[in-house]
Amino acid sequence: MTTSPGTAAAPGSGAAGPPPAPEGSGLPVVGSILDFRRDILRAMHRGWRDHGDLVRYRLGPVVVHGVSGPELAAEVLTDSAAFGKLGADNPLRLILGEGLLTSDDHESWMRNRRMMQPIYTKQAIARMYQSMAASTAAQVEHMARGHRSGDVVDIHGEMMRVTLDIVSRCMFSTDVEQTRDGIGPEAVEVAVNYAFDRLQNPFSLPARWPTRRNRRFRRVMAGIDSMTYGIIAERRAAASAGTVRGDGAPDLLDMLLDVRDADTGEGMSDREVRDEVITTFGAGHETTAITLTWAFYLLSRHREVLRRVQAEVDEVLGDAMPTPADLAAMPYALQVFEEALRLYPSAPIVPRLARQDTVLGGHTVPAGSRLLVNLYNIHRHERHWDDPERFDPDRFSTEGRRGRHRFAHMPFGAGPHLCIGKHFALMEAHLLLAALVRRYEFRHVPAHRVVNQASITLRPRHGMEMTVHTRSRAARAG
Ligand code: HEM
Repeated sequence: MTTSPGTAAAPGSGAAGPPPAPEGSGLPVVGSILDFRRDILRAMHRGWRDHGDLVRYRLGPVVVHGVSGPELAAEVLTDSAAFGKLGADNPLRLILGEGLLTSDDHESWMRNRRMMQPIYTKQAIARMYQSMAASTAAQVEHMARGHRSGDVVDIHGEMMRVTLDIVSRCMFSTDVEQTRDGIGPEAVEVAVNYAFDRLQNPFSLPARWPTRRNRRFRRVMAGIDSMTYGIIAERRAAASAGTVRGDGAPDLLDMLLDVRDADTGEGMSDREVRDEVITTFGAGHETTAITLTWAFYLLSRHREVLRRVQAEVDEVLGDAMPTPADLAAMPYALQVFEEALRLYPSAPIVPRLARQDTVLGGHTVPAGSRLLVNLYNIHRHERHWDDPERFDPDRFSTEGRRGRHRFAHMPFGAGPHLCIGKHFALMEAHLLLAALVRRYEFRHVPAHRVVNQASITLRPRHGMEMTVHTRSRAARAG
């Protein structure tokens, strides 16, 4: 896929009419469904290149607008009165219920967001450093035990493993082995693929019909629910009995059970806690794992950048695991992650529903139509990025950031729904990147085909095969 100049539809130009639509994409009945199912990013990239920052598509009966410029994205994401979350037919709700990510009820979303915000501040997240560091150390150990230098490893699988472990430890104070039967990698995969398929295809058979696929999905969800409600019940019982768990340090679940509405003093119901727990698992591990995978891929293709990160990490860490203070002393490692998020935003499309007829970029957007804010296109927009396809972490140095449009880089979204887990993800990724670069060099296996697969996330379709090379002390010294 090449980068497009993407001309913006000039705001206020002429009488408001519908945005341009790709010619010929409108197959009778299905519209662009087949193109979108084949490769949604490619289809939207083509639409953007040919028609500009606002493009109208039809997916069967559903009208969808592709939004590919930061200016228009700013309007969409900051105006939640005009553009809300998808409604009750959002297939993600089949998994996440009405947690923060999928709730379309503004009042209850705001109440829960206010209650949960303090759990996710930078300071609060810093208290989870020990859990993240324990997982990271276990991952480094696991790779040392499981692989000899030169072995081929699927780095994507490894990153999924460690980020799932981190979210399990931070949420439940248990490692992933203890939650595998409920929220294991296979369960997450089945559930996410199922929901994404329904998201793209309005002609999917009703979820309640007993098809093989529906039954499989329901089985997976039953496992996830039974595990989650079981743990919630145990915690509530322990709290009423005054039992102190483990070292007494609260985990995310303790905090969710403890939050109170400032006005009413009420906490969350079991159902609400369940929805937020599953949302955290769903939103909070694959996204980080994928970006780390792309970061290691990019590093293996850009040796000069790799040498710079290695030099930074070696100088700050020597032979030790990173402490929080060390992270602050390794800004370049974080810049690598941010640049990987630019080129491969792990949640590439942010959907919204037009709640009312609106004029956007000089065009009418009718109530009931959908908007897909396309971060992949925005992050490659030539009005905002010099040589957008080039991997260059210096774009995120203090100097490099200067003067950039606030919405030109928004892998965590923007506006009131900005990712609540942003600090969690950045701390975790920074720590993992530094700890792994210190011990290993990953080299992409040239014969391995790297293909984007945009589902809800932007995964490498065939994983990421890389050889693992243990870095010797001598190499690290210089
Ligand atoms: C690199 C990692 C991550 C990326 C790229 C990412 C991306 C995003 C994006 C783009 C949104 C906005 C969705 C929208 O506006 O509709 C979002 C929302 C959200 N994210 Fe993340 N996320 C990441 C990690 C996390 C983590 C670690 C957690 C939890 C610990 C998390 C929890 C959430 C939640 C709950 C929301 C919904 C917020 C709301 O609507 O109030 N995310 N994320």
